[in-house]
Amino acid sequence: MIKFRDAIIEDCDGIGLVIVSASHSAFIGAIPEEFIDFTWTPEVSAANWRKSFEENTDRGQLFLVAEENHRVLGFIWAKPWAETAGYEACVQGLYVLPSFHRRGIGRNLIGCAVKELMRRNLKSLEIGCVVENPNCDFYRQLGGVEIGRRLFLAGRICRYCRVANGSTEVGSRTN
Ligand SMILES: CC(C)(COP(=O)(O)OP(=O)(O)OC[C@H]1O[C@@H](n2cnc3c(N)ncnc32)[C@H](O)[C@@H]1OP(=O)(O)O)[C@@H](O)C(=O)NCCC(=O)NCCS
Repeated sequence: MIKFRDAIIEDCDGIGLVIVSASHSAFIGAIPEEFIDFTWTPEVSAANWRKSFEENTDRGQLFLVAEENHRVLGFIWAKPWAETAGYEACVQGLYVLPSFHRRGIGRNLIGCAVKELMRRNLKSLEIGCVVENPNCDFYRQLGGVEIGRRLFLAGRICRYCRVANGSTEVGSRTN
């Protein structure tokens, strides 16, 4: 059975693998390869997470994993602050292992993050997604609507969405 729980430092190897493989699955073929950093491997990502794990969790950020039999299948990172005025929290990253896509893991990770943010009385959440990411429709599927666009690194155009999710407003920002 898949469990959804707070990440612990021992998850860093799994988190590195999930983030890098999910990101590559989204962007290879969708954007020019010069924008993809192939030196960013699961091992490099895991080492970065391990280094900053305690400092990041101390700042009240949310790190949740989907786990089955001690294997990390998905990961969400949310912050109790946001860049866009009117939003109280943001999702900084959401990743599911490619071989586990379309099994409800992404939806559940967002649901768990929203529940925890509501417990903290934070009622609006923005989510960013690069325009070229073929998974933008995932957020629309959850009820997201675009709330704006902005320029991002390398001059790419971004968009912002807003999602109504139960009694919590979830903003979905495509960056
Ligand atoms: C986007 C991502 C997190 C979705 O996770 P997932 O576990 O596959 O999504 P779920 O199974 O929970 O899907 C929830 C709903 O969205 C739909 N959905 C999922 N991916 C979709 C996509 N790419 N396009 C359209 N709809 C999608 C599902 O069909 C499902 O709809 P349903 O409830 O009507 O059946 C995953 O594809 C991923 O990690 N992608 C690579 C990284 C990425 O792009 N992250 C998000 C951008 S920041």
